[in-house]
Amino acid sequence: MKNKNKSESFNKSKKNGIPKNELTSNNHSSDNSNSNKSDLNIKSQKLLKQRQELPIFSAKREIVDYIYKNKTVILVGETGSGKTTQIPQFLYEEGLVRKNNCAIAITQPRRVAATSISKRVADEVGTKLGARVGYTIRFDDCSSKYTKIKYLTDGMLLREVLSDPLLLKYRIVILDEAHERTLRTDVLFGMLKEIQVKREKLAKDQREKMRSLKASEMHKAPLNVRGPKTHVKFDNSDSESESESDAKEAIIKKVKVQEDEIFELKIVVMSATLDAEKFSNYFNGAPILYVSGRQYPVKIKYTYEPQNDYLDAAHLTVMQTHLETNTDSGDILVFLSGQEEIESLEKLIRETSKHLPKSKKGLVVAPIYAALPQNLQNKVFEKLPSDHRKVVLATNIAETSITIPGIRYVIDTGVHKVRGFDARVGVESLLVEPVSKSSARQRAGRAGRIDSGVCYRLYTENDFEKLTEDDVPEIMRRQLTSVILMLKASGIDDVIGFDYMDPPSKSALKNALLELYSLEALDDSGKLTDLGKWMAEFPLDPVYSKVLYESIKHKCTSEALDLVAALSVDSLFYSPIDNREAAFNAHKQFQSLNGDHWTVINLLKAFNEYKNNSSKVVIFDQLENDPDSFELYENANNKDKSSSDKLEFWCKKNFVSFRNLSHVIRIRQQISNLASNLNIDVSTSCGDDTDTVLICLLSGFFYKCAMLQPDGTYRSLTGSQTVHIHPTSSMFRKKTAAIVYDQLVFTNKLYAKSVSAIQPGWLSIAAPRLYGNNSF
Ligand code: CDP
Ligand code: MG
Repeated sequence: MKNKNKSESFNKSKKNGIPKNELTSNNHSSDNSNSNKSDLNIKSQKLLKQRQELPIFSAKREIVDYIYKNKTVILVGETGSGKTTQIPQFLYEEGLVRKNNCAIAITQPRRVAATSISKRVADEVGTKLGARVGYTIRFDDCSSKYTKIKYLTDGMLLREVLSDPLLLKYRIVILDEAHERTLRTDVLFGMLKEIQVKREKLAKDQREKMRSLKASEMHKAPLNVRGPKTHVKFDNSDSESESESDAKEAIIKKVKVQEDEIFELKIVVMSATLDAEKFSNYFNGAPILYVSGRQYPVKIKYTYEPQNDYLDAAHLTVMQTHLETNTDSGDILVFLSGQEEIESLEKLIRETSKHLPKSKKGLVVAPIYAALPQNLQNKVFEKLPSDHRKVVLATNIAETSITIPGIRYVIDTGVHKVRGFDARVGVESLLVEPVSKSSARQRAGRAGRIDSGVCYRLYTENDFEKLTEDDVPEIMRRQLTSVILMLKASGIDDVIGFDYMDPPSKSALKNALLELYSLEALDDSGKLTDLGKWMAEFPLDPVYSKVLYESIKHKCTSEALDLVAALSVDSLFYSPIDNREAAFNAHKQFQSLNGDHWTVINLLKAFNEYKNNSSKVVIFDQLENDPDSFELYENANNKDKSSSDKLEFWCKKNFVSFRNLSHVIRIRQQISNLASNLNIDVSTSCGDDTDTVLICLLSGFFYKCAMLQPDGTYRSLTGSQTVHIHPTSSMFRKKTAAIVYDQLVFTNKLYAKSVSAIQPGWLSIAAPRLYGNNSF
């Protein structure tokens, strides 16, 4: 390990390290899982050997001392060296977060990283997930008051600032994957800098207060505790009697108990690849620590020609690599842009694998992407029998966030999905774009962790040279409405003068402030209104919280909850290529003439009805004329007939994603709980009053509307763009005076997704600040 000499040079002596009283074994009493405690311990012991082999392990004491001595540290270390899993454990084992009111928070830009890494660390520590080690992501909190090592998404830490403005429950915040420069991590940089200054002052004030309190109590104490003198003492007159020293101890304790001790906040900024000097400058000259990892040489191979179909090229390269190399020589990792591509390639590989020669058996496909359910995530880490080879299909999550062991061959398609926002026309996009050089290098590096490896870049060397060096930080290309509301709600009024590492554009800031004003979250002077504060209570886009708020007035909270939950996940309906017609017919029964919003409300109502009556349902009657479904039902029947199976079958029969629907129901429950805590009657329903729900929806979605033009196309109200209705919408090819949509996506044309028909006249009712004087 080497350190850049920004602070004093490294000193290993204990004198500069952690004081003795801070070093202590941890109190494990929080673990109440006694029944399987020995299992947990055995697992932890088994993993210890692997931990000890990590490059970072030998630098444990130096890293802990360094963090102890400095307010902020920038730590750079090769991917897979053990930063994310080990450093929090080092700090915990060394007793830095022993006391009541302090834990370690480790932020992750990705949900999957937070969940999968915390599971691994819980196993390493030998605890149940949610006890000493836990995670918090949106709509899923697996932590408790005993949690000392908490992995959480950057968005969730931002939310915690609202309820705990000085983050007093954390002694250390580790901002991991800082190079990703996500919108929320960037905002956290500025917030934490400010919190650190405030905490330092507060801790100092508290120490001074305690000192003077102690002094005055000490002064009074002897008289109170000595009791009547029974004899005169002559010897040791200078030193304290036992009872006097006990009394002083008691006073110190008493003073401390009066309030929780406040600690200075320590910040650790961590990454495998970042402009460390830039970060150091931003964090007031924080020292930089470099931890060396293990990296074997990786041979880079480019294609001779650009590839028109990189998915096809990836498929061929996987099979070629498998056929031409020894199965034991290492696994294959393919980088793709998203879930759909991963699922397509998985299908292709599975098909081709059936025709592999007998001598080459066993290709096991292991996907990993953001929306993959937790129980399936571990497949990428599992060790396979020696005659099997793993092909991991990953998004850029496997670049630096998650290290998959055993990889020797990397196939890089050179693309990833990038979120963007055009402030001028108000369009958010999620586009597949070329990666940066820095990403491409990280991807190649994944092939060299266990031995020398090969990286096949499915693009030409010339195209690599044309890539940008780094990605543009999200804050410079995303919509800012949500984070500006968070800044305002956490008391930061001057959002323009905020200490950004790289400031967002003036137009994006203006756009966000205008939208918040139109939503009535800000008043004329830009101050947060009571409604704005209310909106910030929910972990939702402000547009959705506004709909929820308006639903109280319109007496349709139950329907608003359905909508807000359903719009938080990907589509609930699916339509397989080989069974389009059956899917179409199944979906038709939920369809509303008003469009997609009422369609999902209908779906949720039907599902709940089925759930409540499922024991009484006589499925056979309905299935008599439908042998295909009958077969499905028979299959389902042969399985365990638990109620969950029945619900899953219902979804399958209706071509509805059971996974996404279950997720929607969980989300709905959580938002509903939050609303109930604010004394809202969450059961209020407007029945079948479609207009009321759509007007209520418009009170948040007034920016997301388009008007029918004489030529039959739609024109967006913001930015005057020509908009087409997406083929997945029930409104596809239908004409209506005006539409409201959930999102605009740009592929070859600008498409509106999740669309409903509205009456233009509703706009001035729904958004008087914006359209009050307009007549449409
Ligand atoms: O953060 P950094 O990239 O430095 O490494 P890490 O995420 O702490 O990973 C350290 C090691 O733990 C790697 O070798 C991973 O493969 C391994 N690991 C694992 O085997 N299973 C997990 N669920 C997570 C990490
Ligand atoms: Mg990491």
